Amino acid sequence: MCGIIGYTGTKPVCPILIDGLRALEYRGYDSAGVALSGKTLTTVKRAGRISVLEEALAAGEAGADLQAPCGIAHTRWATHGAPTDANAHPHATDRLALVHNGIIENDRALRRELEEKGYVFNSETDTEAAAKLIDSIYAETPDPIAAIRAAAKRLEGAYALAVVFADRPKQIYAIRRDNPLIVAATAEGAFLASDIPALLPHTKDYYRPDENEIVVLDAEGEAPSVRFFGAEGELTHPVCTVNWNVEQAEKGGYDHFMRKELGEGPEGVRRTLTPLVRDGLPAFGLPLMDGLGKMRSMRIVACGTAMHAGLMGRAFIERLARMPVTVEIASEFRYRNPILSPDEPILLLSQSGETADTLAALRLARANGIPTAAIVNVIGSSVAREADAVLATHAGPEIAVASTKAYATQASMMALIAVAIAHQRGLITDEKAKEMTAALADRLPAALEETIALEEQMIEQAKRLSSAEHVFYIGRGTDYDGSVEGALKLKEISYIHSEAYAAGELKHGTISLITDGVPVVALSTDANTASKMASNMREVRARGGYVLLICTEATRAEVEPCSDACIVLPESDPMLAPICGVLTEHMIAYHTARVMGCDVDKPRNLAKSVTVE
Ligand code: AGP
Ligand code: GLU
Repeated sequence: MCGIIGYTGTKPVCPILIDGLRALEYRGYDSAGVALSGKTLTTVKRAGRISVLEEALAAGEAGADLQAPCGIAHTRWATHGAPTDANAHPHATDRLALVHNGIIENDRALRRELEEKGYVFNSETDTEAAAKLIDSIYAETPDPIAAIRAAAKRLEGAYALAVVFADRPKQIYAIRRDNPLIVAATAEGAFLASDIPALLPHTKDYYRPDENEIVVLDAEGEAPSVRFFGAEGELTHPVCTVNWNVEQAEKGGYDHFMRKELGEGPEGVRRTLTPLVRDGLPAFGLPLMDGLGKMRSMRIVACGTAMHAGLMGRAFIERLARMPVTVEIASEFRYRNPILSPDEPILLLSQSGETADTLAALRLARANGIPTAAIVNVIGSSVAREADAVLATHAGPEIAVASTKAYATQASMMALIAVAIAHQRGLITDEKAKEMTAALADRLPAALEETIALEEQMIEQAKRLSSAEHVFYIGRGTDYDGSVEGALKLKEISYIHSEAYAAGELKHGTISLITDGVPVVALSTDANTASKMASNMREVRARGGYVLLICTEATRAEVEPCSDACIVLPESDPMLAPICGVLTEHMIAYHTARVMGCDVDKPRNLAKSVTVE
């Protein structure tokens, strides 16, 4: 995601753009830029936070007309190309400046076509291809609406675009597909933005253009205006009115970023996996990933929740691909002089891509000539830049300290890797591989959405857990891996002491802590271990423990009778259900912390990215 803001009207545009970027910084913040349309059309852009851009503007860079009455701005969340000045938006030509939210999937082909026409590219981004495509059409047909409409027919992917043309200095043109864009007009000007927070200081009334409509913001006439043009001519839209305050608006109307991000998980999984599927099969387009099947074994190294996604990945890969996998805590791996081998690649997982221990583990691997691949959520991050191969998760910026949607995308990526290795090793047929790939890329996002729809049941159980001093999580196999993540999530945001145990291990000591009313969350999605889980749940209840069961239709008959409360997941597939199970734990943890009045998004002592040892 990124943040786009645009204004044309009676006031100097620069302060409006900068304030708008700040309001949208939660959507992406690795670089930022503005295009100011006044006496000239001037672009100023910088890698880094918005303050870096402000310094460049204050220094009078590019002779920017800070009193310009029209302009567009962008705060980036990179998908193509690291956060650099050149890759920052806007992308400009002599005729126009453009900002973009989304991904242009056919950018390489467009780039080649435009280079043959003589265009020289200055960035690594997909966006620049869109800017130059519109420029090339506008050069022939100097009609903004026609040029943007013709270009949109050539663009594949998802976008919200805003464009200012040098020869129309008081107008802004926009179009969207699969990405948000809202517009508004007041007596002071016409506005466009990616999301409501940027508009709130100016108005609570706004419009949502439909996809592929051309939106025209104009301050030339008697009053600033926004107009909508479809293929058949001009359109109108009903006005929408915001009923949030600014603080709430940044969270999409939710009380916390964490709840908003829990809801973004399904779309994040869809956006992560879809580009990695070609002809129905996993296609990473990376020699290291496409050759994993030949490797003897794999080592996964990460921290915290990312490491827990690695645990789930190990289970998938060992079960499906029969490849030995070890999972290591990065801070341990880097200091124990590990025994490494070139035919055991190292896979690193990191949402931020800046975790010091994970980065150090990566550097240790590379110093020993070990092939490395990284699954990261922030393109251009240190881990992404230094790994041999990078697999991007597209969860979008994760603001809450407690990682949720990133976990969902990491675990789903691990599952796809497991299918790929099993297929490379000939252990599953093309047909089976396509079936499993479709289950992940298509069914899993829907199953996660259906899981979220069970929220009332999670809230009910959260009220029960909120009074507990200790909570235990038990599971077997992938459900033990899921339990480990559930325990971390609860403790890190509710401060309730919570621990996970392999269900079969509980009786070897820890069961001494199970007394009247102690809650035990039992995860049972695996039909192969359901009968054993039932025994472990009975052992807990025999000592007065309260068993909250998370199960599937496939395990329900065996385990539900041994529970005090039961949440049945909407999916029984052995790869999808564990990921839905963790989402359920995440939501229970969120509501427990919320009920307790905890600082859910910024828990005490924690940081979003642990860039120190
Ligand atoms: C998870 O909720 C925590 N915030 C923490 O464990 C986190 O997963 C860990 O610090 C790793 O961060 P990374 O994914 O950015 O490397
Ligand atoms: N894909 C574009 C880029 O990488 C836009 C990313 C965004 O939405 O910020 O520059």
